Amino acid sequence: MKVAVVGATGLVGSKMLQILEERQFPVTELIPVASEKSAGKTIVFRGKPYTVVTLEQAVALAPHVALFSAGGITSKAWAPKFAAAGCTVIDNSSAWRMDPEIPLIVPEVNGNTLTAQHKIIANPNCSTIQMVLALHPIHQKNPIHRIVVSTYQSVTGTGKAAVDQLENEIKGIEGPMAYAHPIFKNAIPQIDVFSDDDYTKEELKMMRETQKIMGSNQIQVTATTVRIPVMGGHSESVNISLEHPCTVADLRIWMSEMPGIVVIDDPSNQIYPMPLNAHERDEVFVGRVRIDRSFPNSFNLWIVSDNLRKGAATNAIQIAETLLKNGMLPA
Ligand SMILES: NC(=O)c1ccc[n+]([C@@H]2O[C@H](COP(=O)([O-])OP(=O)(O)OC[C@H]3O[C@@H](n4cnc5c(N)ncnc54)[C@H](OP(=O)(O)O)[C@@H]3O)[C@@H](O)[C@H]2O)c1
Repeated sequence: MKVAVVGATGLVGSKMLQILEERQFPVTELIPVASEKSAGKTIVFRGKPYTVVTLEQAVALAPHVALFSAGGITSKAWAPKFAAAGCTVIDNSSAWRMDPEIPLIVPEVNGNTLTAQHKIIANPNCSTIQMVLALHPIHQKNPIHRIVVSTYQSVTGTGKAAVDQLENEIKGIEGPMAYAHPIFKNAIPQIDVFSDDDYTKEELKMMRETQKIMGSNQIQVTATTVRIPVMGGHSESVNISLEHPCTVADLRIWMSEMPGIVVIDDPSNQIYPMPLNAHERDEVFVGRVRIDRSFPNSFNLWIVSDNLRKGAATNAIQIAETLLKNGMLPA
């Protein structure tokens, strides 16, 4: 299969190359794509050098599938051109996520809605993916009415420029700023730009994408998203209100039974999920499961995952694997 990775020189793109290799995705020809400034550079995949090409050159090479992670503007302009050339696009940006014609997929939750007609498929926001994966098995057993989430998000979620900013600040070096404020020794309560009612776009993404993936506009979601100086892995404090009474043990069992979730919850031994332990893992880790006695049928959870893997690259490649398994990509 001819596989294009658009944004191959970026954080998500290089993680995609690593995961395609790890999962032995049947790539017969790799087409690494980046901006004009990177065209001609060499990328090594499975020990073999490949030359980075431009978007125009990539379309002409007629890939079967293209994994896009080069920002919303590139996706908006180029995903339709790849699709028109017969390629299936799996897009990591926010460009297509809320388009009613475009499926927004976490394979374990709604992978069964994919069809061969879908030529552009959206990969959800990183914070949303880990939250819906953990909440889906609960919602199946006991419908969720309301979600209140606060995030603690890693700088790798912003891309290379933000990693450089944090590294420079740790070393005391002045350099270009990816954020409006220093991130080292700080917490910035702004991810993406401000939008309706003073929510940030990241917060609106979490609120809207959760309803779309879980297939219910009845689930009320509110979010506060915060950037912290962690080098990899997003954490979330999540409060849920359910339809019926149930126990903490019920929640732990339902989540443990879901593929891709690991419940780590032994507070008396100070054992709970943390970004350091989620690093380079594909699972979503859940702990600190507690009753919220301030409201009926409510609970608190702590959800952690590697944002570059399940939050981006792994989820996109799992979508491609689902298409392949269902005969929607050439074997
Ligand atoms: N980081 C995360 O956790 C995460 C999670 C989910 C989704 N995403 C999304 O994934 C995308 C990339 O994120 P990232 O963290 O990998 O960013 P990044 O490290 O800044 O990498 C950006 C990549 O896009 C390429 N690119 C930029 N402009 C381009 C253009 N006009 N034409 C072709 N290629 C272009 C860059 O190529 P050059 O090297 O040539 O500039 C680079 O390969 C964004 O849409 C982001 O929202 C990121």
